[in-house]
Amino acid sequence: MGLSSSFRPMTAGRRGPLKGRAVPPGDKSVSHRALIIGAAAVGETQIEGLLEASDVLSTAAAMRRLGATVTQAAPGSWRVWGVGVGGFAQSPEPLDFGNSGTGCRLAMGAVATTPIATIFTGDASLRRRPMKRVLEPLSRFGATWQGREGGLLPVTLNGARTPLPIRYTLEVPSAQVKSAMLLAALNVPGRSTIIEPVATRDHTERMLAAFGAQIVWEETKNGTAISVTGEIELSPVRVTVPADPSSAAFALVAALIVPGSEIVLEKIMLNPRRNGLIKTLKEMGADIAVTNKRDTGGEAVGDLRVRHSALVGVEVPPERAPFMIDEYPVLSIAAAFAEGKTVMRGLEELRVKESDRLLAIAAGLKDCGVKVIESRDGLTIEGAGPDGVAGGATIVTHMDHRIAMSFLVAGLASKNPITVDDGTLIDTSFPGFQALMTGLGADIAQATP
Ligand code: S3P
Repeated sequence: MGLSSSFRPMTAGRRGPLKGRAVPPGDKSVSHRALIIGAAAVGETQIEGLLEASDVLSTAAAMRRLGATVTQAAPGSWRVWGVGVGGFAQSPEPLDFGNSGTGCRLAMGAVATTPIATIFTGDASLRRRPMKRVLEPLSRFGATWQGREGGLLPVTLNGARTPLPIRYTLEVPSAQVKSAMLLAALNVPGRSTIIEPVATRDHTERMLAAFGAQIVWEETKNGTAISVTGEIELSPVRVTVPADPSSAAFALVAALIVPGSEIVLEKIMLNPRRNGLIKTLKEMGADIAVTNKRDTGGEAVGDLRVRHSALVGVEVPPERAPFMIDEYPVLSIAAAFAEGKTVMRGLEELRVKESDRLLAIAAGLKDCGVKVIESRDGLTIEGAGPDGVAGGATIVTHMDHRIAMSFLVAGLASKNPITVDDGTLIDTSFPGFQALMTGLGADIAQATP
């Protein structure tokens, strides 16, 4: 696996209940999009609450290399002076997206219809992840590419010189692919239509509409057809980034499984295409209340009050997967502490995330003494009950931030502490994870050798 020399094992153990209030960092999906769409607009985009994690900083650096001016005015407060649709300049250097599939795939879309050549690369995890799923559809606009066998990074993408509008039906239920196609369509004359048979997160469409793009939604027998009129000018808006529900998920599950806990997580995005975890946990018996519901910059946000709860296993409907795709690792931890069996299916996409998450979760839970059956597209977890997870293991995280955070959460309620082999990748999405969790009373620290 080749862990870097700076790899940092971390350990979590039992202590008292979690108490207090916390605001998780800005949403990763919205942060990437604000930088990329801001870079394609004319004038100054103001972003408040940007997630300052390495994934998003890679996107900021990439937008600079493509000609936009991107600056930090104050912590979380960023400004982007865009180059206008079709205005990206050829980068003399490769764009390195580190661990970030989202930044890489969205940026591929952003440059695919501008006649420049761009080299994309990333870390060892990203270099293993499939890029053909986005390169092949982008080639329909007239872009060409060369990459390693199977369409792996590094990839050179040659943007189309005379792009043509297309009508394309998505073959994978991926917001990243949909977003890449919508961003590419911005610099194409006429109207391009992307059909999504399975609904996925819609932040790109929403933000493009807010920036003045002409977006039309239409229900067809094959799914939602999203049409974008190209060669338009995007006008900057002020983007307020809500707190990331996928990051909030770790403190949320921790409070559910640590006895006596009661916490409030503030400003959490409540977009209905991101709320599958809360729905599922409630079905498991979780005491979660949404309070103070309001609207911030086009997205609903609210505060989540979470209390320790007796959880029971459930069958998670496979069609819910796109609305909680990043939350299965931490849901698996909740399932391990529940009474009874939890069945999760329709999850083949988890095999091509930052790691093969089905494999990583199954192996980690088994090491902690939990019974798991791994199938091609899912997991069946035999809940060990609130006091039945042995722990005491060192988990292999496979360069995956969400595997690391999930098993640290498990360590807060298992009989013996749990160590993760490397916590450095947590910074890719949630740099303040340890501070936020310890602020609520959790015992999470660097492992002592
Ligand atoms: C994301 C979409 C999801 C998700 C990723 C962020 C996005 O990926 O896993 O963390 O911001 O569009 P897919 O759309 O490929 O499933």
